[in-house]
Amino acid sequence: MVRNLENRTIFTGDCLDVLRGVNSHSVDLIYLDPPFNSDRTYGNDFDDHWQLDRLPEAVMKRLLDTMGRVTQDNDGAGAVINAAGKVAGEATQAYLTYMFERLTEMARVLKPAGSIYLHCDDTEGAWLKAVMDAVFGRTWYRNEIVWQRTSAHNDAGAFGRVADYILFYSRSLINEASVAAPLKGEHVAAKYRHDDGDGRGRYRADGDLTGADVSEGESGRPWRGYDPSARGRHWAVPKARGRGEYADWIAENMILGYAKIEGVHDRLDALDAAGLIYWTRNGTPNIKRYLSASKGQVPTAIWTDIPPVNSQAAEKTGYRTQKPLKLLERIVAASSNEGDLVLDPFCGCATACVAAERLGREWVGIDQNDVALQQVKIRLAQQEPGIALWAERVEHRARPPKRTDDGDRTLPNPIPTEIKREIYAEQQGRCNAWPIGCEERPSIFNIEVNHIRPRSAGGAHERSNLQLLCGWCNRSKRDRTMEYLAQHIAERL
Ligand SMILES: C[S@@+](CC[C@H](N)C(=O)[O-])C[C@H]1O[C@@H](n2cnc3c(N)ncnc32)[C@H](O)[C@@H]1O
Ligand SMILES: [Zn+2]
Repeated sequence: MVRNLENRTIFTGDCLDVLRGVNSHSVDLIYLDPPFNSDRTYGNDFDDHWQLDRLPEAVMKRLLDTMGRVTQDNDGAGAVINAAGKVAGEATQAYLTYMFERLTEMARVLKPAGSIYLHCDDTEGAWLKAVMDAVFGRTWYRNEIVWQRTSAHNDAGAFGRVADYILFYSRSLINEASVAAPLKGEHVAAKYRHDDGDGRGRYRADGDLTGADVSEGESGRPWRGYDPSARGRHWAVPKARGRGEYADWIAENMILGYAKIEGVHDRLDALDAAGLIYWTRNGTPNIKRYLSASKGQVPTAIWTDIPPVNSQAAEKTGYRTQKPLKLLERIVAASSNEGDLVLDPFCGCATACVAAERLGREWVGIDQNDVALQQVKIRLAQQEPGIALWAERVEHRARPPKRTDDGDRTLPNPIPTEIKREIYAEQQGRCNAWPIGCEERPSIFNIEVNHIRPRSAGGAHERSNLQLLCGWCNRSKRDRTMEYLAQHIAERL
């Protein structure tokens, strides 16, 4: 999609105004660390009180106005926010409304395959999760990352609150290899016990080639004298599907054309011919898993290895809510690629921007506080020379951008072929239900235009609300939601 943001820009102002000026589907990754409804004042940095009578009048009026409309805009979010008002009180309701209107814009500006990480704590974490489900769709929920931010904390009469929570939603897989830690020496020795001395290195031979339960057809029939049916099992021979699994590694490194081999016995033959099958002493064929294919140890969703920015740290800026660079680098590495655009709408002292620059991503930060602009320059200048030189090139904008994709709103019906072609290219020739399990790759003539958010639920007839689906998905979904389609696909599988 056309982008109207320039790399290395800091906007000062309310992120809602700025986000409204950003073109749809133009950002790859959003990280946000907004106010948490902590009922505190962070020195001169910012205020985090949400009782209506403590808000500046203009903010309060705008919020009241939005509160009246939430249900119309998104009935799920409206139900959650009204429930929060009853259960947790007016301040929570106001806070969630404020977050809802900003998250809705973030959902619009994010690319269909983009990712969003919402940093919060346990004050409103559970309510924010429900609002995120309503705005981004529960299907895209990936993790609640628990970041242990300190080792000890005194909370009189309760257990120490030592963690923050990061809600992660995405339609894409994380880049496992970029966040994995190398396997530890003892693990390697204990697990990868074999080596054929052929230069391929160490491997393990505990990978089963069969799965539970008997099956009809080829996968139930014996191969090289081994009969899975007799053991109540069937052949389950890995298939390369482009999802970064071991079979994809085989296809890339060991067996040319492996991805195209359809027959189960043909795949077994190919594996055997390439020396990838290990026969155990009792005559069971296993697949050899090479250490060199291992991605290493992908982090779990509990992060205890990233300490907070301490008072002696070189990266310390004095901004009270500063997050560690290492935290942001893990997120940026996991969910973006070089050249992608990273956006932080509550960027504070610009940690996410610095992390993005260090990893070769493009970035835009927004904060109502001028500190963001000062800090990003200071912090970039402290980096190694290749990065430091960009400190002088940071753009500052005090006004929101103007959308250049507004043509959006007046799309003709039916959709012109050039637009269909563009969307087809954006979806890389796939049915847009691919993240929820559709594997169809129809030709441009056999793919159909669909509204992501149904028009019956207020979805606009605009470019950012259009997708292409295979015939089956389009007929199944029609004017229902993507959540409905996801369920329908799951039932078929
Ligand atoms: C928790 S801090 C973010 C800290 C940041 N992650 C860092 O490492 O420095 C929240 C930030 O949101 C900013 N903020 C609050 N409301 C805002 C709004 N409506 N638009 C833009 N920025 C806002 C505050 O000025 C503050 O800098
Ligand atoms: Zn499909």
